[in-house]
Order: sequence, then structure tokens, then C-alpha cells
Amino acid sequence: MDIRDEEIKEFIETVSLNSNYNFSDYTVKSFRRRMEKIVNDNNCTLTEITKKLKNNTIFLEKIVRDITVNTTELFRDPKVWLEIQKEIIPELKKLPTINIWHAGCSSGQELYSMLMFLNENDLLEKTKAVGTDINSEILAEATKGQYKYRFNYEYLPNFDQVLNVLPEKKKYYILNIWILTNSKISLKLSHFY
Ligand SMILES: C[S@@+](CC[C@H](N)C(=O)[O-])C[C@H]1O[C@@H](n2cnc3c(N)ncnc32)[C@H](O)[C@@H]1O
Repeated sequence: MDIRDEEIKEFIETVSLNSNYNFSDYTVKSFRRRMEKIVNDNNCTLTEITKKLKNNTIFLEKIVRDITVNTTELFRDPKVWLEIQKEIIPELKKLPTINIWHAGCSSGQELYSMLMFLNENDLLEKTKAVGTDINSEILAEATKGQYKYRFNYEYLPNFDQVLNVLPEKKKYYILNIWILTNSKISLKLSHFY
């Protein structure tokens, strides 16, 4: 499948003219891969897609959703969390309040991992955390914050690697429910040692 650079450029310009989405900073290589998939799924050329989304907001929103890659995990990349524990948490402990923005939070696992992590470090009380994502459907999942038990179970090794190194507490969680009310996140956790 051959997509010309000009077609991609025109697509990006059209999306930015007809919405608040701006893909001009994406790397050409990764963006081309996404475009190829979209063209394939829609069984038409990129020029035809660009033409259609000019006057069709619903279609435009769908294409934007299709562009995003929403891979995420609870305690994704344990090494990073261990580094945060070592380097960042001591600094956060010195602050009167903590504000965290998870840009591109996908379905929320990174945000909830952070809240658990702060909870373990007794920092949750003074924290406000916000998650945003370009994909409104995935953001709705993040807001619900309910994940299937089996899905969580798959990530217990990550929990083990991250939370078990914390001083004293040495426990990890199975998540039951995460409830989000009035922008305040309350946690309902059950744990075992
Ligand atoms: C691969 S996921 C990573 C999720 C999470 N940060 C993690 O590391 O587990 C990337 C997320 O960024 C979102 N995203 C991509 N471009 C974005 C943009 N320009 N503004 C906001 N969110 C964006 C995607 O919709 C996707 O959900």
C-alpha cells in the first residue's frame, strides 16, 4: 500500500483545520504505520478519508480514536517506578502539596498505579492527580476505573516488583473497585501479604 507524504500532510492539515487535534509533531514513521492501518481498515485511499472527514465530525472523531495506541498496564515498566521511589519520592515528601498530570493516561492504569504508589508512601492525602487523553472513549474507561479481575491478575508480577520493595509494608494489592466522584478519587483496596 502506497501512501504519499503529501497525502499524510494534507490529512494532518485537514484534521487540525476541522478540530482541535494536531498531529504535526508525530514522527512520520509511526504516523505512516497508523495511516496504513486506517486506510486498510476503511478500504479506501487516504485522500478519500481526508475528504470525508472535512464535513463529518463523527467520522473525524472515529479516525482520531483509530490513530491512538492505548497500550497500558498497571505498574508498567517496574524499573521506572523503582527509580521514582529512589529519586522522586524523597523530593515529593518535602512539598506541601503535589499536583500530577498524566498526559495520555489511556484507560487509567498509570494514574491508578501512581495513586497506589503515593498511598504506599503516605503521600496520597496531599495529592491532586489529573488524567487526560486525546481518545475520549478510552478516557471514559479511565473514569470508570474498573478493570477485570483477570486483567489485574496478569499484572501481579509488576505489583510484586514495585510495591514489595517499599519499606515496612511489603504487600501488594488486588484491586476491587476504584471509584471516581467529583474529581476526587477514593480507593477501595483489598490486599494480601
Ligand atoms: C501508549 S498509551 C500510554 C498510556 C500510559 N501513559 C502508559 O504509559 O501506560 C498512549 C496514550 O496517549 C494518548 N495520546 C496520544 N497522543 C495524544 C495527545 N496528543 N494528547 C493526549 N493524549 C494523547 C493515546 O490516546 C494513548 O491512550
